[in-house]
Amino acid sequence: MRIFFDGTLEASSRRCASHLVEKAGEAIRDRGCFSLVLSGGSTPGSLYALLTKEPYRAAVDWRRTHVFWGDERCLPPDHTDSNYRLARESLLDHIPVPPEQVHPMPGDVEPEEGARQYEAIIRDFFCSRSRREPCCFDLILLGLGADGHTASLFPGDKVLEERQKLVVAVTPPPNVRPSVSRLTLTLPLFNKGRNICFLVSGRDKEQAVAAVLRGGTESKTLPGAMIRPTGDCYWFLSECGSRLAE
Ligand code: 6PG
Repeated sequence: MRIFFDGTLEASSRRCASHLVEKAGEAIRDRGCFSLVLSGGSTPGSLYALLTKEPYRAAVDWRRTHVFWGDERCLPPDHTDSNYRLARESLLDHIPVPPEQVHPMPGDVEPEEGARQYEAIIRDFFCSRSRREPCCFDLILLGLGADGHTASLFPGDKVLEERQKLVVAVTPPPNVRPSVSRLTLTLPLFNKGRNICFLVSGRDKEQAVAAVLRGGTESKTLPGAMIRPTGDCYWFLSECGSRLAE
């Protein structure tokens, strides 16, 4: 695990973008394509915008990139709260990823059916490639909520114990907005990732970041602390790391 602190989200997004470029190059060199899982929420918006500009835009072979999502709100793809819409408007509309290589989560069908459909999409993608490690994404972006949730894996949810399915439907806690069902990849799938990148910003996240990164009993119930990939895990932090120094 490596942890980077920057003074602003812009700076940590630049650092994360450089890391993504490096990992994309390695994936395409070693396996012929780059499987990227995007995160939701608002924080990644600045990273997505950076990736549409030089030097990052030309540094990734987008035509050999496949884009997936780690979670999605069960809403139409053009809804203002859709993770797909944020990524489409701030990234996908501005880079040459072939449309057939963009794999949005089906947020506009019955959630359990959406989870089944997306699991089939993921399995088909990896089975169509002679991959040594099935269902192993090259780079997974994640955020962290102030309650320690990541993707749509919320503290205390029974889906945290799921060990077979790759994608599940969840009902978020009542205080989480938007208050709609979600689709999320499961812990076993996240933890197969070659490279996990947490991009976290904001003072409201300080306590959760400190709890997750310090470990200990407090972290045992936090989904963010359950992300322990067999691959690398990088944290790109801004405005939320001061408690770690205590
Ligand atoms: C979602 C996200 C969620 C998000 C965190 C941080 O769909 O809401 O996947 O896990 O990453 O809640 O959200 P912000 O970046 O908006 O603070």
